[in-house]
Amino acid sequence: MTRIRKAVIPAAGLGTRFLPATKAIPKEMLPIVNRPAIQLIVEEAAACGIEQVIIITGRGKTELVDHFDAHPQLEDTLRRQGKDALLNEVLRTTDLARIVTVRQQRPLGLGHAILCARDLIDGEPFVVFLPDDLIDADPPAARQLIDVYERTGKSVLALMEVAPEAVSSYGIAAGQTRPEDDRLIDIDTLVEKPPAGEAPSNLAVVGRYVLSPRIFDYLSQTRPGRGDEIQLTDALARLALNEGLIGDRFTGSRYDAGDMAGYLLANLNWARKEPRLWRKVKRWLAENE
Ligand code: UTP
Repeated sequence: MTRIRKAVIPAAGLGTRFLPATKAIPKEMLPIVNRPAIQLIVEEAAACGIEQVIIITGRGKTELVDHFDAHPQLEDTLRRQGKDALLNEVLRTTDLARIVTVRQQRPLGLGHAILCARDLIDGEPFVVFLPDDLIDADPPAARQLIDVYERTGKSVLALMEVAPEAVSSYGIAAGQTRPEDDRLIDIDTLVEKPPAGEAPSNLAVVGRYVLSPRIFDYLSQTRPGRGDEIQLTDALARLALNEGLIGDRFTGSRYDAGDMAGYLLANLNWARKEPRLWRKVKRWLAENE
């Protein structure tokens, strides 16, 4: 079985839910405590053994790639000032993975963004990370999916139960639970953002996928769907039908950093890992409840 070495991070969207903050700054550069969201994603990829990260960018998104380049002037200054801890933080961003970019020249949808990576993926299975979905998990959520791919040889996506009234915000999957492992579902139905009451289940697709390179054939045949965009969900439905697709009810907490409440909760979750910072946050919460 081909080892998974490459990841695709589609980051060419316009981030309209965060306007005006995202007028001049890419959404993926908004910080989660002191790291931009895109760094958390690249760290997850590196922790899963990914060697090459392909970021799909577009107009106005250069900062998010600059973030992973060396910065000799800054590094020299930190070194001279003896700020070793900060220096190490800065150096670490450059060593996480090999970053490659592809431009999506028109924002024609998530499916189209992934299709832009076809030549670089070059026939290998790969992981997709949606940078809005920040997942705090051990092992990392993408690693859990790669393990399922290695056991089954099939494409895998991450699933999470959501409240019935929330189904219309997600891709929803349904299928047969595997008898040997009730975390795993052989998916036979996938619907993009169904109205509440018409969803085939309450299992929502979350932004981690391990995909066979055959997905590019389906993406290239997919016509614009919902919202006049080329939808990944439509191509996944064909992949499921023709060669099988497994849903993994991964373990971990997921935050939708593309949404304001989710973004604030992600900050609280990662702030909780810094004891001094967390004490201040807790004090503020106690005083202002
Ligand atoms: P979203 O639907 O969340 O779009 O895309 P968005 O533009 O980022 O955010 P809002 O809804 O306007 O606030 C899901 C993922 O697909 C990428 C986005 O960058 C995001 O990571 N995407 C979407 C592209 O790369 N290209 C596209 O044409 C559309």
